[in-house]
Order: sequence, then structure tokens, then C-alpha cells
Amino acid sequence: MRGVWAFGLLAVLAAPACAGERTPVIEEPAGEAIWEASCARCHRDADKALARVSWVLTGQLPPERAVWLRDFILNHHPPAHDKIETLAGWLAQR
Ligand code: HEC
Repeated sequence: MRGVWAFGLLAVLAAPACAGERTPVIEEPAGEAIWEASCARCHRDADKALARVSWVLTGQLPPERAVWLRDFILNHHPPAHDKIETLAGWLAQR
């Protein structure tokens, strides 16, 4: 009987801890694949390309960076329209 009680207590204690450990979704493979297909033939390194626009990205949170990057990519060798968002999100997390 004591075991059941202890298990119940453990479950209650563990629940909030697990909820706090949820990590944000990073679209790593999809974003990287789009970069490889659309950008890498001219840019060897995503981080170096991003460094050139650090004046706008520095101090911004990933969601804000993603908005700026999406607008930039729209005017700079954009991939298929439905891929722009994913690519911008991936770059914004770097
Ligand atoms: C046909 C070649 C080519 C392709 C494809 C290309 N770029 Fe570029 N990109 C350039 C050139 C040239 C520059 C300007 C020179 C530099 O900054 O190195 C540039 C500059 C940039 C910059 C810096 C902008 C600035 O103001 O200095 C970023 C960021 C960038 N590209 C991202 C991308 C992304 C993301 C993709 C894929 C969607 C992409 N590029 C595809 C040629 C290309």
C-alpha cells in the first residue's frame, strides 16, 4: 500500500518538472535542406551570410529575426514560396 502512495506522490512531483523541460521545436533538417538546395551554391556557410546582416539581427529574438529574414529572402533568391517560412525560421534560430 505504501508503494502505491509513494508512486502517486512521485507522479505529482514529476509532472511540473517535465512540463518545464519542453524544448522549442527547431526545424533543423528541413531548414538545412532548403539552405543546401537554395543558398549553399553561393554561400558556403550560413553563419557567415548571417554575420553580414548581424546589424539587424543582433538583439532580436528568433521570432523577430524570422520575420526580417523572410522579407529578405523574398527579395534574394527565394526558394519555393512554401519553403521560405521554414528557411527563415531555421536561420533565425542560429
Ligand atoms: C546566385 C547566388 C546567390 C544565391 C543563390 C543566394 N545568395 Fe545570398 N548573397 C549573394 C551575394 C552575391 C551576396 C552579397 C555579397 C555578400 O554579402 O557576400 C549575398 C548576400 C547575402 C546575405 C547578406 C546580405 C547583406 O546585406 O550583406 C544574406 C543574409 C544572404 N545572402 C542569404 C541568402 C539566403 C538565405 C539564400 C537562400 C535563400 C541566398 N542568400 C542565396 C549571392 C547569393
